[in-house]
Parts: sequence; structure tokens; C-alpha cells
Amino acid sequence: MPASFLGIDVGTSGVKAILVAESGDVIASAVTPLQLSTPQPGWAEQEPESWWQASIASIRTLLAARPDANVAAIGISGQMHSSVFLDAKGTVIRPALLWCDGRTTAECREITDAVGGEMRLRDLACNPALEGFTLPKVLWLRRNEPEAFARLGTVLLAKDFVRYRLTGVLATEPSDASATLMYDTAHLRWSDEILSAVNLPASLVPAVGGSSEILGTISLEASGLTGLAVGTPVVGGGADNACGAAGVGAIAPGEAVTSWGTSGTVLAPMLSPHVDPALRAHTFCHVAPNVWYLMGVVLSAGGAFAWYRDQLARDLASTGEANERLNAEAAAIEPGAGGVTFLPYLQGERTPHRDASARAAFLGLSLAHSRAHMTRAVVEGVCFALRDSLAILEELGVAPEHMLLTGGGAKSAFVRRLQSEVFGLPVCTANREEGPAYGAALLAAVGAGAFPDLAAAAHAMLARTRLEHPEAGTHARYDEPYRRFRASYRAARIATD
Ligand code: XUL
Repeated sequence: MPASFLGIDVGTSGVKAILVAESGDVIASAVTPLQLSTPQPGWAEQEPESWWQASIASIRTLLAARPDANVAAIGISGQMHSSVFLDAKGTVIRPALLWCDGRTTAECREITDAVGGEMRLRDLACNPALEGFTLPKVLWLRRNEPEAFARLGTVLLAKDFVRYRLTGVLATEPSDASATLMYDTAHLRWSDEILSAVNLPASLVPAVGGSSEILGTISLEASGLTGLAVGTPVVGGGADNACGAAGVGAIAPGEAVTSWGTSGTVLAPMLSPHVDPALRAHTFCHVAPNVWYLMGVVLSAGGAFAWYRDQLARDLASTGEANERLNAEAAAIEPGAGGVTFLPYLQGERTPHRDASARAAFLGLSLAHSRAHMTRAVVEGVCFALRDSLAILEELGVAPEHMLLTGGGAKSAFVRRLQSEVFGLPVCTANREEGPAYGAALLAAVGAGAFPDLAAAAHAMLARTRLEHPEAGTHARYDEPYRRFRASYRAARIATD
């Protein structure tokens, strides 16, 4: 068997692993589900050990399906910002606080004050202090669990923890480092200034390598647990949004990608670290060297739909086709959901509101409405929230001619159509539907020397589907529902204050 590349994505709802042949074909795929714990409203935690166990399970399933897989290199992608707290021996101290955890508002203020204000922080990190980022979580640990903090040796990101377990090497790469609020995103180095302003030692963060650089090799112990050969190289990999964009070939300016995972994002690559003056969108490093991206983040996208399905359409759970049935019901309802509005802010919201204590709401319900209207309102609400992010990117000069779709929202014809209508843009997808795991496999292919760089790998292994255009006049039909959606945030904010 010729060489293959292993891509792993440590997501929030599961760990996915895929084997990709040199042709670009996916020859095996496995997903192991994960649970999310919400000890209090707005909090979100997972056990890093569960990521590792799920990674082992997914890798073993792949290798059982393809015992002939000749894995040349491994790339890992993962949920961004989520903090793994390790002691000096590499043992996990407590569950990780995730990207969608909103408990650190006080620590965000503390960081902003310590560095000398939000504009100074913007200059240093290209971003403001937001609850989901890594640094506020470290300060939360210091303030609330001092005994755990006293043991803290290293702070890692989710995919870097899995690489650590696979190789024994503590490391990260720019796409995840730039999303910690401890990294000088413009100058590509840890920010001594931020770390010393909040009185944290630089030894807390690992060395930074390249996303397609080999940062370690499979250890004897990991080989025994996974079945991977000792010495197989593991590259830096990247943040899930960066790898998701790379996985559909979006690594250069002019592209824009909308992704539906548990979160939803609208991302546009650029050749310099351009920052939103109003700090509504994030600026992070891409997985291609010297490329950055602007990104708006909707904290609950697929996550909001999954919550709605599991809480309010339980009767469909046993059918195994709940998503299809709900989408078919919603597709029969006219744009605007009969006046029903859904705000997807179940875990607060990043873009555009920067409001960790925002909450979700249904508005405009009457006796005349059915579940189908509510389902339609949920899907429209997520599309409207994504449109908020797109509008900000457009305001900052991003002018995509079409939108690349990836993740759950790319798979359903109905959700693709709704996005194209709400955005007022043609949409397309890539021929590979594996999301961040595919981008991680591309990085592994580059690290193994199969391609000179990521652009060459993407060019050789990916193709785009044909553009799907919104029907004439449909975009305007969402003007009024979108206006209602925008106005509803203020109403819901007052009601939950
Ligand atoms: C991005 C973000 C989420 C996670 C999801 O800033 O927090 O999109 O990366 O895994």
C-alpha cells in the first residue's frame, strides 16, 4: 500500500480520524463521540483524558479498517482556546475549560487593565480579552482554585495535548498560539509583555513550531495503545477553524469560508494581520506560514440545532434521521418562519455582541405556529448570526464573490440554500467533506514531504463543487426577518438582565 496521511480532529462533539491517500481520497474514517459538561449555565468543560481515549478509539477503528495503511505522517486539529492544565509531570490537573465557557468576565477585565487598556491589548495580541480565550482561564484558575494553580506547569491546547500523549513532546504552532491571548499575533512570538503584565512565567507555554513541521514522533507507549508504528512523524497541525479552511483549500486572500460545527464561523484569509478596529472579529494566524485570517464566531450554530433537536424533537431521536426530518419540515415553511425569531445565544455570543452572558430566545410565537416554524426559525437564526459576522468582514474590506461552506451546514441542500439566500451569495463546497481533519491530513502530507507546501497539497488533493446561486429575489425576502433578529437581541438582553 502506498503512503497515507492520518488527520485527527479533536472537536467538541467527537474525535474524528481519517486516512487520506496521496490522491486525496479518504480511504477510512471514524468518529468517537464526546460529552460536554456544563456544571453551571454558561460554563463548559471536558476531560482532556476523554479526548485522548477517543483519539485512541478512532485511530484503532481506522487501522482495523485499513491494516495496510502505511501512515507516513499524522496531523492534528482541534477546538481552539480550550485550556489543558498540566502539572510538571504532564498529569492533567482538572477538566479543561472550553472555548465556549463564559465564566471569566472578571479575568478579562483584569487582563485588559493589567496591560494598560483594550487598545494596548489589541496592539499586542491583535484581539481583545474574551471569555473563551485561554489566558483568562489561567487567571480564573489562579483566583478560584489556588491549589490547582500552584501545581500548574504547562498550559496546552486540545490538539497539542493529544500530540503530547502521542509523542511525549510539549509544543504548539501559531494558529492555536495566536488564539490564547498570550501570543504576539503580528510578530509570531509569545508576548512577554502580556505574560509579565499578568504576572505569569513564560515557562507556562510550550515551544512554537510550524503547522506542517514535524514536532514529534510516535512513542513506544502510544504505539502500544494506538497501533501506530513507533517513530511515525506528527506535525504541528492547527486550530480547527484554520484546518477547516485549509481542508477546503481556503488559504489565500479572496476566499471566505463559513463553517458549521458546534460553533459557526465566517473566516477570510489575508496576507497581513489586519485587525477589526471595533474588535468584533478575531485576528489569528492561519496554518499556512505568513497568512492570517479575520473571523467572526457564532458560539452556538450546529450546537444550537443539536440542542433544539435533542430537547424539543425527542420523538425523532429513535428514527436515526432526525436532522433530515427537521430540515424537511423547515423547508416547507416560507422565509421568515411565520414571524418566529430564534436567537442562538445558548452560551453567550462572541461576534458581534461580545457578550458572554447573552442567552437564547424564541420570540413571536403564537397558537398558529408549529414545530416546523420553530425549526425554520432555528436554522434562520444561525444563518442570521453568521450574516452578522459576514457583514463585519465585508465592512473590513473582505468582498467574497462566493462563500465556501464546510461542516454540517455544507451537507444539507436545504441549509446550503438558506445560507446562500441569507448571505446573498453563491455558495459551494469542496469535494472532501471531512472538515478540519482533512486540513490536518494535508499538513501531514506536507510534513511527510509529499508536497512542497500547503497550497500545492490543496491544489493536488482538492476540487470545488459547482456554485449554487440564490434564486433571484430571495435575499430581499430575509431583510425584514433579519431586521427582527437584530432588534431581538436588545429585547432578550433586557429580559435576562
Ligand atoms: C473559535 C472558537 C470555536 C472553536 C470550536 O474562536 O472558539 O470555533 O474553535 O471548536
